Amino acid sequence: MSSLHWEEFYAAHLPPADFEDNRQLLKEFCERHSKIHNKIVLVTSGGTTVPLEHNTVRFVDNFSAGTRGSSSAEYFLDQGYAVIFMHRQKSLEPFTRHFTGQQFFDMLDISGTDNDPGTQINVKPDSVDVLAPILLKYKVAQESQRILFINFTSVVDYMWLLRAACECLAPLEQRALLYLAAAVSDFYIPQDKMPTHKIQSGQGAPTISLQLVPKMLAPLVSLWVPHAFVVSFKLETDENLLIAKSRESLNKYKHKLVIANILQTRKYRVVFVTPTTSYEVHLTREQALSGLEIEEPIVADVSRKHDEYISAAQGQ
Ligand code: PMT
Repeated sequence: MSSLHWEEFYAAHLPPADFEDNRQLLKEFCERHSKIHNKIVLVTSGGTTVPLEHNTVRFVDNFSAGTRGSSSAEYFLDQGYAVIFMHRQKSLEPFTRHFTGQQFFDMLDISGTDNDPGTQINVKPDSVDVLAPILLKYKVAQESQRILFINFTSVVDYMWLLRAACECLAPLEQRALLYLAAAVSDFYIPQDKMPTHKIQSGQGAPTISLQLVPKMLAPLVSLWVPHAFVVSFKLETDENLLIAKSRESLNKYKHKLVIANILQTRKYRVVFVTPTTSYEVHLTREQALSGLEIEEPIVADVSRKHDEYISAAQGQ
C-alpha cells in the first residue's frame, strides 16, 4: 500500500463544490474574532467517508456519531471561545443534539387543524425547563456570531476544509486551538482510480484496492498552524495499544496533547497523553447517572492547558 505526499494529495483531488464559499466564511469569522482578541477553537466532528464511485452510491465510512465534537463545542462556548464547528453532514450538532428522533415533536402541543388560521403550537409546560436553557444558549451563540458551522462528507472534502481553516487560524498564533475529534479515514480510493458509475454486481464481486491517506497532522503542526495549541484524538479498540500509539503520535507530530479513547468506553473514560505525563479523566457511575457528560471536564482541562500555553508565550 503506497501513500501520496500530502501536497500530491491536494494536487490530485479537487476541492468540494462549495469550497470557496466556506473559505470566505472561515476567513471572515477568524478575522472578526481575531480583531476582538477572542480565542478560537476549531472542533472537527463526525466520520469522513471514502466513496467507491464518482457518482456515489456506495462508500466506506468511519465510525463517529459526532457526540464528542458537538457536546465539546457547547462547552467551548461556555469557556468563552469562538467555535468553528466542522462536522460531517447529518452527524450530531451542538444544541439540536439534545433532541434526536421524535423528542422535539413530543415537547410540542398543537391546537386547531392544519388549514385553521388560528392554529397554535406551544411548548408543553413540563418541557419548557428542558428546552429553555438550550435554546437560550443557542440564541446567544448565534446572535453574537460565536459559532460557525461548516460541513463535510468525504475525506477529500475534510482535508480541503481543514487546510483552509488552518490558513485562516494561523494569524491568531497561540490563541488558536485545534481539537481534532473527527474520525478521519486512513484509507481511500484515489479519484483517478475510481469508477464513474455505480459498480455493477452483475460483473461479479469487485476487488477494491485502498491506498493510505497521508497523515495531515504532519503538515498541520509543522507548517500550517505552527504556533497553535493542537489536540488530536486517538481511537483504538485494543487497550494494549492505546497509550503507546498516542505517545508515538505525539513524538512523531510534536503537538501538545493526545486524548486517547477506547471505542466501547469513550463516553466514560479518556486518557490525556502529553509529552511528559499521562492521566485519566473519567466519570464516576454517579456522575454519569446524574447526566454529567465527560466532555465537560475534558474541555475544562484542555482550555486550562491552552490558557497556560498562551501565558507562557506572552511571558517570553
Ligand atoms: O463522535 P463520537 O461517537 O462521540 O466518537 C468520538 C470519537 C471516538 C470518534 C473521538 O473521540 C475520536 O477518537 N476521534 C479520532 C478518531 C481517529 O481518527 O483516530 P485515528 O487514530 O484514526 O487518528 C488519530 C489522529 O490522526 C486524528 O486526530 C486525526 O485527525 C489524524 N489523522 C487521521 C487520518 C489522517 N489521514 N490524517 C490525520 O491527520
